[in-house]
Amino acid sequence: MPRLTVAIAACTVAIPFVLPAQREPFAVPAWAFPFAAPLSPAPRPDSVLLHSVPGSSVRFTMKQVQNGFDIPDWFPRQHAPMPPSVQYGVRPDGRACGYCHLPDGQGRPENGTLAGLPVEYAVRQVRAFRDGTRVSASPVAATGPMHTVAKGVTDEQVREAAVYYARIRPTRRNVIREVRQVPTTRIAGLLYAYDGNDTEPIAGRLIEVPETLERHDLRDPWVPYITYVPEGSIPRGKRLAVRGPTGAATACTTCHGPRLLGVGDVPPIAGRSPSNMLRQLINFRTRARRDSTALPMYAVSDAMSIDDMVAVSAYVGSLVPAARRSPTR
Ligand code: HEC
Ligand code: HEC
Repeated sequence: MPRLTVAIAACTVAIPFVLPAQREPFAVPAWAFPFAAPLSPAPRPDSVLLHSVPGSSVRFTMKQVQNGFDIPDWFPRQHAPMPPSVQYGVRPDGRACGYCHLPDGQGRPENGTLAGLPVEYAVRQVRAFRDGTRVSASPVAATGPMHTVAKGVTDEQVREAAVYYARIRPTRRNVIREVRQVPTTRIAGLLYAYDGNDTEPIAGRLIEVPETLERHDLRDPWVPYITYVPEGSIPRGKRLAVRGPTGAATACTTCHGPRLLGVGDVPPIAGRSPSNMLRQLINFRTRARRDSTALPMYAVSDAMSIDDMVAVSAYVGSLVPAARRSPTR
């Protein structure tokens, strides 16, 4: 453990602190960063067959679903009108934010939820992607698309999107299952998908899959995502979140708020995609995230093993992501 405990002479109090230089070596687990190279050349999306998703009367062709400069919107009445940066983007490199993070900002495991993020935090993160102070701990399955977008848009366009998304209430779409055996999966793009009817040992991993890959590929914002984790992860994660890996100073609740719904510019983490959260903890641990405000997360991530990170991501992902609206407001 990277923690050093100094016992002050003649005193029973132990003061834990972290020496960055003496951090234990940390091996980035490849399974946490699924990546399958896209087909090259990419097949031309079909422009004839009309697709639908449950609960929507809208129909789109695959060509429309894959248009990053006029994005598919299955549920236009579930959110306010999108600003241009979210709906149309900026050619040639600034694909519309809603293409990947979806019109209602619920996002997908490979890119993350923007709904409810503090405006200043979101703007700062996009700047960090632009200047390279936020990258990925994995050389593959990286944050590449976001770097391209960040360079293709102005700060004003990012702010317009951030303000729009900040007003949307995030919703929980996660189902967390503690298991010994996990259904067999394959890698589809940047996430896992069910493959066959077998199971295999979970072996310490966190595997998040869409209920159906078809709905994920259609960019259906309501497709549930199921996360498989080892047995005992949720109570273990709860202990870490509330008591902290090294005590109150590193308890998630200390900075992210008692229900992990965020405080000021510290982002909300309750109910976010567990696989995305796990990657962020690894990104802090390896200093792939080096933006100006990442520092508080170093002591936290340094104090956790990969099993701890899996556990806390599962627990935090299982929480309700937004405060219930007061009936009087
Ligand atoms: C082509 C896909 C794509 C588009 C378009 C896109 N993003 Fe992203 N975004 C990503 C990926 C990938 C990540 C990185 C996730 C990670 O770190 O693992 C990301 C991460 C982010 C984050 C960090 C979220 C967090 O919780 O830390 C913010 C903020 C963000 N994007 C804002 C935007 C904005 C604003 C736009 C539009 C101007 C946009 N994105 C357009 C793919 C995209
Ligand atoms: C000392 C304060 C502090 C503590 C304790 C803390 N965090 Fe954070 N956390 C932050 C700050 C500040 C950020 C924003 C970092 C940035 O701007 O890059 C953050 C960011 C994050 C992110 C990235 C969110 C995103 O949208 O990408 C995750 C995930 C996270 N924290 C998880 C945790 C977990 C899990 C714990 C408990 C084990 C925890 N944090 C404890 C201050 C803290």
